[in-house]
Amino acid sequence: MDSILVTGNGPLNGQIPIAGAKNACLTLMPATLLSEEPLTLTNAPRLSDIKTMTLLLQSLGAEVSSLQDGQVLAMSSHDLISHTADYEIVRKMRASNLVLGPMLARLGQAVVSLPGGCAIGARPMDLHIEALEALGAEIELKDGYLHAQAPSGLKGAVHEMRFASVGATENMVMAATLAKGTTVLKNAAREPEIVDLVECLRKMGAQIEGEGTSTIEIQGVDRLHGATHQVVTDRIELGTYMLAPAICGGEVELLGGRLSLVGAFVEKLNAAGIDVEETDKGLKVARKNGRVTAVDVTTEPFPGFPTDLQAQMMALMCTAEGTSVLEERIFENRFMHAPELMRMGAQIDVHGGTATVTGVEGLKGAPVMATDLRASVSLILAGLAAEGETVVSRVYHLDRGYEHVVRKLEGVGAKIERIKSDG
Ligand code: EPZ
Repeated sequence: MDSILVTGNGPLNGQIPIAGAKNACLTLMPATLLSEEPLTLTNAPRLSDIKTMTLLLQSLGAEVSSLQDGQVLAMSSHDLISHTADYEIVRKMRASNLVLGPMLARLGQAVVSLPGGCAIGARPMDLHIEALEALGAEIELKDGYLHAQAPSGLKGAVHEMRFASVGATENMVMAATLAKGTTVLKNAAREPEIVDLVECLRKMGAQIEGEGTSTIEIQGVDRLHGATHQVVTDRIELGTYMLAPAICGGEVELLGGRLSLVGAFVEKLNAAGIDVEETDKGLKVARKNGRVTAVDVTTEPFPGFPTDLQAQMMALMCTAEGTSVLEERIFENRFMHAPELMRMGAQIDVHGGTATVTGVEGLKGAPVMATDLRASVSLILAGLAAEGETVVSRVYHLDRGYEHVVRKLEGVGAKIERIKSDG
């Protein structure tokens, strides 16, 4: 398994291009299942998760071609041959469950493996099931697979979700596009990836209003047609690289960044003493003066502080002036990066969903292990600011959500390299 060697090397300066969003692309790709006509995505990120979704769609009979060095995905679901999402693929990536709604709507049936356990939490699918049952689907669990049926098609309904789940919102919105009548989804998730999905579905002929708010209304149509859609910027990759100059000092411009994607996060950076300004190419982040100031953070659904930036923010707070309290409210087990940061000299006290970080003058490089996608990049950020060498192992986690990490950070002056392993 490859690892990444990072050597603390002082302030960073320059530009980093931000790719298309993994979490938008992973819900846009299953939308191809809703139509017989081609769907083309541009600005697609080059990630192992996108390859996994490609394999899944191909296993259902969809054609998926990766063009222009992987940034364009040309897809067609004209001749689907299966309605079963196999455990062997689903267990590698939970987002595979986003084929459930589209297949049910298009084919009237779908069999999707339950994803199983995840490092950051139990992550059940009860909200997805409730939402699709509200549209008239019959769903039963058999041998680890969800068997969903809607022999006479789905019917529009008014449904309020018990929690604003991103995935359940995406599955229901996609399914409702082909349901008979009107669907009103209340307490819907408001993430930018859902807005991007709706914009794409509208280009395919769907009738939807209210994306980005808690109430989404969908008028079902008989069929959807083809379209071309540009994937929205990855706000989590954006936030991650905004933290690089914040933790090391310097000034970096994030090309393609937009303030509206990272509002709550920027508020916390400003409170910590980090300057963020919009430029005509994106966002510029600078830390000119000494240590950052400790700030408290609580993760929430959008537009609150994103849980996918909590680990990276903890890395920054490790060297802040003062004590910060980080509350993780979305996932029940998302502090596994803390003991690894403590191996680098951080002072962190974790109790349940609360981590108290007492800032130290500086971190020291050490061998550390990645446990999940966002934890892995928080260790790289900490390594950039640490004295000496840090070796982050199990970076296959990183490849799921970050393209060209070494090249992007090297481009702004970081001392970083990938160590290939034979195994
Ligand atoms: C999406 O996951 C993202 N993944 C996650 O990003 C992100 O952390 C999460 O939203 C929250 O923002 C993708 O978009 C592919 P949820 P999702 O359904 O849809 C509970 C990353 O690092 N829940 O909003 O799975 C669930 O257990 C990943 O890129 C139920 O209880 O998130 C969790 O505690 C990690 N029942 C909470 O809701 C359900 O049926 C939020 O989950 C569904 C969810």
